[in-house]
Amino acid sequence: MVEHTLANMRDHLLALQEIQSHLGMGRTDAAAKIAETRLGMSSLGLHDAAEVSKYMPQGMQDAGTAMHRAASRFAITAQEAGVTGDLKPVFAGLAEVTAQCVGCHAGYRIK
Ligand code: HEC
Repeated sequence: MVEHTLANMRDHLLALQEIQSHLGMGRTDAAAKIAETRLGMSSLGLHDAAEVSKYMPQGMQDAGTAMHRAASRFAITAQEAGVTGDLKPVFAGLAEVTAQCVGCHAGYRIK
């Protein structure tokens, strides 16, 4: 369970890196897809979220949910930017996602 959670975490970081790399090349759709499938609400099945979250205190579950929601919102924002060409909201949205990583890490440990 712990190994699985940490492997997930490393994939979260990899996903962020891939998102940034796609944004740098102007590929907002590719960034949106990674955000939704690897970090967003669509990733819950992939991460066995229902199984793992049973072992988390409520505050940690909430932080996880907030992260998945922020990532799904980001995916929509990134898709919109593909139409408008305005990347500012995309970077703001990405910062909201990473803020959820930072917030949970500040408060919780696996022991
Ligand atoms: C719901 C809480 C939560 C959220 C949200 C969260 N993490 Fe974590 N993460 C943890 C915990 C707990 C650990 C283990 C820390 C420990 O026990 O030392 C961890 C560990 C990690 C690790 C270390 C993995 C290893 O192999 O040791 C990485 C990398 C990581 N997280 C990246 C991320 C990124 C990137 C995000 C946001 C996209 C994120 N995490 C969001 C709780 C969270």
